[in-house]
Amino acid sequence: MKRKPLILAMTGAISAGLLHGPTLAAKAADQAQPPLGLPPVPIPADNPQTAAKIALGDKLFHDTRFSADGKVACSTCHAREKAFTDNLTTSKGFRGLTGTRNAPTVINAAYMQSQFWDGREPDLEGQAKQPPINPVEGGLPNHEPILAVIRQDPDYRKSFKEVFDLKPEQITEDHVAKAIASFERTVIAGDSPFDRYQYGGNPKALNASQKRGLELFRLKARCASCHTVEHTQSLFTDNRFHNIGIGFKAIAGREPAIAEKFLRMKHASNGSDAVAEMIDKAVLSDKEISELGRFVITEDFSDIGAFKTPTLRNVALTFPYMHDGSLKTLSEVVDFYNNGGRVNPDDPLTPFLSGGIKPLDLSDEEKADLVAFLESLTSPQYQALARKTSRKTAKAAVDNSNTGGHKATAGGKNP
Ligand code: HEC
Ligand code: HEC
Repeated sequence: MKRKPLILAMTGAISAGLLHGPTLAAKAADQAQPPLGLPPVPIPADNPQTAAKIALGDKLFHDTRFSADGKVACSTCHAREKAFTDNLTTSKGFRGLTGTRNAPTVINAAYMQSQFWDGREPDLEGQAKQPPINPVEGGLPNHEPILAVIRQDPDYRKSFKEVFDLKPEQITEDHVAKAIASFERTVIAGDSPFDRYQYGGNPKALNASQKRGLELFRLKARCASCHTVEHTQSLFTDNRFHNIGIGFKAIAGREPAIAEKFLRMKHASNGSDAVAEMIDKAVLSDKEISELGRFVITEDFSDIGAFKTPTLRNVALTFPYMHDGSLKTLSEVVDFYNNGGRVNPDDPLTPFLSGGIKPLDLSDEEKADLVAFLESLTSPQYQALARKTSRKTAKAAVDNSNTGGHKATAGGKNP
């Protein structure tokens, strides 16, 4: 593999920025110096960042040809102009087929210690191989059609030669995944008003309500026990799995039978790739199996309904919320936690509920302060989007996009 010295890679990325607009240049800067409030991006030793690889991954991420109907790219469900989500309750794949889960943002996914709501893939490289061959996403039978497109496309042939020094017939899905992962490691965003207040020494970066919200987040409401805030940086995730009460009604009382059905399917698959593909298909197409959460990996009953703590950076823009997209607004989320892990205070509680979830007894003002704090986590590159998407319009936007179908994003650049 070609390995460029870091400084050359950066210069390359910056000059590429002239061609691709400001985003790539900004991304290259992020790599050298992480934005305020974030640690350096972890880069795996066997997939170093180069400017050419990042540009190739960007192109692959936006290529709709890697799907059964030629209309679905990664960017269909992770669109830059929607803060790298689709703002749908659950995502739509090829021919408009709907999956069981809400698309998390790709922004800062590079910091996650595992990928997907149940953490079933260890890294971005492993994650990137699944969507094209999932029957409710890309809909392809295997990776061969993708490799066929790439091997015949003169631009891709040139890029894979430059980036990996490969002849067309040597290109595999692993190379494709590596390039996509490299691109995703540049989709990084910090430097929000919260960061400028907390780490940048600017006491005016948050208003009074947001400051009260931060205190509630850390202390009375105990949000930071899972969405971690640290001394020098904050990822807003502990990278662990918790059952906070979302979605359990779908399988209440039938957990053992559904778990058993799933385990029979899992143990009938042979080889780690086959098991990984089987799990990816089952959780995204079977609503009940989806609700098993982390259990599908650990096979531990206490993990039923446990999902990965998501980051909260840019959360004002990544609605709707939770693994099933069931909560539409941040106010609904705060009410849910205030009720101790349920939409209504008198709903039944799941027996698998995390010990960290208890009724919070917040006043209306405190709830509004918490929401105001969550809205202070938007990074500068998504501020313009935030202004368009006020809290009031968020719900309407969800409803519209759910009926309006999906658009493939041409190039995925800012409008
Ligand atoms: C049809 C919509 C759709 C397409 C296409 C799609 N995704 Fe996703 N993506 C999702 C959904 C839904 C999830 C959550 C699934 C789960 O957790 O089980 C997800 C999860 C992810 C995650 C995990 C983030 C986290 O915090 O755990 C990453 C990274 C990601 N997708 C990147 C990609 C890449 C790269 C591609 C293209 C190769 C892609 N996605 C294609 C809908 C989609
Ligand atoms: C016990 C750990 C824990 C605590 C405490 C906790 N969370 Fe969460 N949070 C999670 C997990 C896990 C999820 C995903 C759950 C799911 O989808 O089933 C989540 C999801 C969210 C989401 C949705 C994000 C998205 O992208 O969909 C928001 C917003 C959120 N939490 C805010 C808060 C706030 C505000 C508090 C304090 C009132 C809080 N959380 C307390 C673990 C926790």
